[in-house]
Amino acid sequence: MAQALLGAVGETIGVGGTVERRHWWREGLIYQIYPRSFADSNGDGVGDLAGITARLDYLNDGTPNSLGVDAIWLSPFYPSPMADFGYDVADYTDVDSLFGTLDDFDRLVAEAHARGIRVVIDLVPNHTSDRHPWFVESRSSRDNPKRDWYVWADSGPDGGPPNNWMSAFARAGRAWTLDQGTGQWYLHSFLPQQPDLNWWNPEVRQAMDDVMRFWLDRGADGFRIDVAHRMAKDPELRDNPLISTDGEDDPTGEARAIRLAQLGIDQLYDEDWPEVHEILRRFRRTLDSYEDHMAVGEVYLLDLRKLARYYGSGRDELHLAHNFVFLHQPWKPEAFRSVVDEYESLLPADAWPAYFLGNHDHARVASRYDEGGNGLARARVGAMMVLTLRCTPFLYYGEELGMTDGRVPPERVVDVDGRDPERTPMQWDASPGAGFSTGESWLPIAPGSQRVNVVAERGDHASMLSLYRRLIWYRKGSAALHRGGYRSLPDAPTQLYAYLREAAEERLLVALNFSGEPVEWPPWTDLPANGHLELSTDPRRQPGPVTLAGLAIGPDEGVIVRLA
Ligand code: GLC
Repeated sequence: MAQALLGAVGETIGVGGTVERRHWWREGLIYQIYPRSFADSNGDGVGDLAGITARLDYLNDGTPNSLGVDAIWLSPFYPSPMADFGYDVADYTDVDSLFGTLDDFDRLVAEAHARGIRVVIDLVPNHTSDRHPWFVESRSSRDNPKRDWYVWADSGPDGGPPNNWMSAFARAGRAWTLDQGTGQWYLHSFLPQQPDLNWWNPEVRQAMDDVMRFWLDRGADGFRIDVAHRMAKDPELRDNPLISTDGEDDPTGEARAIRLAQLGIDQLYDEDWPEVHEILRRFRRTLDSYEDHMAVGEVYLLDLRKLARYYGSGRDELHLAHNFVFLHQPWKPEAFRSVVDEYESLLPADAWPAYFLGNHDHARVASRYDEGGNGLARARVGAMMVLTLRCTPFLYYGEELGMTDGRVPPERVVDVDGRDPERTPMQWDASPGAGFSTGESWLPIAPGSQRVNVVAERGDHASMLSLYRRLIWYRKGSAALHRGGYRSLPDAPTQLYAYLREAAEERLLVALNFSGEPVEWPPWTDLPANGHLELSTDPRRQPGPVTLAGLAIGPDEGVIVRLA
């Protein structure tokens, strides 16, 4: 029965009578759950799989009272020493006891599928934990059969690390650690507790295929591929070009990615190596041997041309690639417009964008874009943007409530890279523990949880949650939004990002006011004179017929207008 609700791959008659295949991962909304922080079923202060299962009706009970998500993406729940909160995997085919058991996973999948919710899980193929049995073997001696499963190298000429590669985490420094026992260095693109696998080794490729099949056979509908752009590196381990500026050290992480994009440096030796595309084609073949399963890649490259290549031909590499260039834009309409327009022109014909404004590694939207108190209003406009662009929208848990970054006092900081504020517990109600846990939660509850929570927002028409529900359910019912074409209107007033979304017999204008000033729609000739206001981010504004010329769009307001 569960499977029946998921439905088969859809088909639709497209322009000119062509038959288009329809896919849940193109049309649906994918909701990211950070399992530690969503719902704690056993009072130990850490969220778990049973907690998620108990909250599935909130995510989608088939009615517009629920959020209406089509799929969930679960950040890692595998056995892990938690040096990077689960992104250091010690066993790819089990569940950490903190999160439950494989039976809990099976129950979660069955209950999700019964509600038409797909389950996407995190695959972490670039590195394991240093406690993974593969690495324990690999480091045990130079001639261990698993030695070559990881990247080992001798000291450089000066007796130091083999080359100048840096960890993505500033605090970890060099990307190499010397193993005293065997006298060689191992590579770790992240923490020393996260040794990189050697993807040039065919046995590693085979082992990861087996991991994928394990979860696909168990009912997972797809994978989010962690640091997909990092899997392949220069086999000769050559030095990266130095990108430091006067007086500054070589930057790491986000600062490095931004600087590389500014300098137009095209090839680094420790990421985005051409072989990565062969690995992704292999993943795709595995996924394609199952019906309508998908992979979305975390491709943290701030260069749209490079990002577009991760779709391959549009049918043979990633199904979706997370676009971090979009996430990094300043709050300016022309910034988002130019990214979207350029990306649309770069993608292969069959490729489909994936936009999002937040995840477990980035400050929350209402905090990031706040400039003197307008963060929430902007987050509402951001919600309308992501849910009306031509893309698969991703939504990070709690964004639908307008959660802001938590305040984490120094003695409660647990993450190595400053990411605790965006990982605070989901706010279910106004109680001191926010309904997340009966115990002390692993991170403090963020400020404002008495107002910003599911119970308080559910019945409030003006809340962020109500706006999200309206947008999401409207999007489901609109072919133009979930599968139509996109055309931006660059001549719109400069305060606006405005675009058309079009499908057969449905034409929508989306106009987003990025400024704090009211704007009037100009008397344009190539758009119809009249329309119908479908939805506004301003809860006081009622739907109804409108005349386009002179249409007022309020400060920090977004509107969707159906054109006659
Ligand atoms: C990805 C994850 C991040 C993690 C890193 C290393 O960027 O999103 O949370 O720390 O990979 O696995």
